[in-house]
Amino acid sequence: MNDKTKRYVNGSALFIGGMLIFLVLSIIGCAPTVPQEQKTGAMLWGENCNRCHNIRTPSEFNDGQWEVAMTHMRTRGNLTANESKKILEFLKIAN
Ligand code: HEC
Repeated sequence: MNDKTKRYVNGSALFIGGMLIFLVLSIIGCAPTVPQEQKTGAMLWGENCNRCHNIRTPSEFNDGQWEVAMTHMRTRGNLTANESKKILEFLKIAN
């Protein structure tokens, strides 16, 4: 191997090593789930509102309609007051 190839090989090893560290860190970073009480309305919406039917996008209903729907879906989905409040806030902001 001449000097040029050696440098090239070292460079790739460094690159692959870096990619591995990045990969491991991103896996570790994803693993711990956010505690339930810290979840945002958008997260709770994404997790809960597609369990029984296709997800309804915020733009499908206006604020008043979402209030009615959420009272109904809170009992259906067995959501806590805080969870349904956050989801409702998200739907109203995003519609
Ligand atoms: C446990 C099952 C279940 C979960 C979880 C659930 N839904 Fe529903 N949803 C239903 C059922 C069943 C209906 C239709 C019958 C009814 O109105 O009860 C419905 C109807 C709806 C409707 C009226 C649909 C229409 O097209 O008129 C909306 C809007 C809705 N859901 C939104 C939501 C949202 C937002 C969430 C998350 C907070 C959610 N649902 C979670 C079961 C569920």
